[in-house]
Amino acid sequence: MAQINFGGVEENVVTREEFPLKKALEVLKDETIAIIGYGVQGPGQSLNLRDNGFNVIVGQREGSKSWDKAVADGWVPGKTLFGIEEAAERATIIQYLLSDAGQIAVWPVIKKHLAPGKALYFSHGFGITYKERTGIVPPPDVDVILIAPKGSGTSLRRMFLQGRGLNSSYAVFQDATGRAFERVVALGIGVGSGYLFETDFKREVYSDLTGERGTLMGAIQGIFAAQYDTLRANGHTPSEAFNETVEELTQSLMPLVAENGMDWMYANCSTTAQRGALDWWKKFRDATKPVFEELYKEVAAGNEAQRSIDLNSKPDYREKLDDELREMRESEMWQTGAVVRKLRPENN
Ligand SMILES: NC(=O)c1ccc[n+]([C@@H]2O[C@H](COP(=O)([O-])OP(=O)(O)OC[C@H]3O[C@@H](n4cnc5c(N)ncnc54)[C@H](OP(=O)(O)O)[C@@H]3O)[C@@H](O)[C@H]2O)c1
Repeated sequence: MAQINFGGVEENVVTREEFPLKKALEVLKDETIAIIGYGVQGPGQSLNLRDNGFNVIVGQREGSKSWDKAVADGWVPGKTLFGIEEAAERATIIQYLLSDAGQIAVWPVIKKHLAPGKALYFSHGFGITYKERTGIVPPPDVDVILIAPKGSGTSLRRMFLQGRGLNSSYAVFQDATGRAFERVVALGIGVGSGYLFETDFKREVYSDLTGERGTLMGAIQGIFAAQYDTLRANGHTPSEAFNETVEELTQSLMPLVAENGMDWMYANCSTTAQRGALDWWKKFRDATKPVFEELYKEVAAGNEAQRSIDLNSKPDYREKLDDELREMRESEMWQTGAVVRKLRPENN
């Protein structure tokens, strides 16, 4: 583990140079890793571990599309693909990658198979942090660890196949064996992380819930909608409003920010754009800061977690979700987006 200075703050980080794959394979050579759940993270993490040479099995309930997907990805029923309970029984490390609501429902089954010395692995601090609401309380004689890839399971797999790696956070909640640290780091390297940065379960879930409700998804859609509607109300066409709100950002500017930072992007745009952006960004910060503070309070109070447990556990959750997504999909802004995407030269 190295100390790396991030903008003046020292943090613990583990890189592939200091903990290479060979070492990870050695640490986990006697382990059977069961990936429980084959939704989004399940495929990414299990396929990367398998391709990296670890001993992996998948546990997935039968008779669903996820089971068929696992078979299509080369997992063999009865050999490397089992029902959830059988996989949990065979495992020494249980990677609990059901949806957060699914984890609550299946917990009694998993708990039965947490024999002393096993490790229970999460990719989100949700179940453990909100234990009063989820009922997920592991026995004291197992390791409880976390690797949270900072991106979708699809990106984790895609970047692995490109020879790159997605950054992940790691945490140890309970070290019963004295091996929790080496186990978690070896798994983090095994699933294809670029580097690992330290967190704890609570900080992971608070930042994750805030981020997805905020700039990663909620706030960004809110700001897009506000700007698009303002341009449309002032007589701009859908193409103009969409290009100025979304297309230029995703296609042209954000790749530059990803490569070199926001200051570099500001320095390399027109002086008119630069002047305006410098003058206006603090106004947007000040306008949205109270909303972010309210959001963080709601997350810390557990209200956001409770809302997702209640709503995501309902049997009609998928139908209701489709209605909400339809509202966004059928909005003029995203209808325009669909046309704009088709017109991109690479799609013609
Ligand atoms: N999505 C991401 O990219 C991402 C990123 C970072 C961390 N994480 C974390 O990783 C974990 C897994 O997330 P995910 O997005 O991969 O999950 P997901 O796609 O929502 O998980 C679906 C999986 O859960 C199973 N499942 C759901 N309810 C179940 C139940 N009641 N009984 C049995 N199986 C059930 C599904 O089986 P069926 O198909 O049979 O319903 C499927 O295997 C979560 O803790 C999440 O917070 C996710």
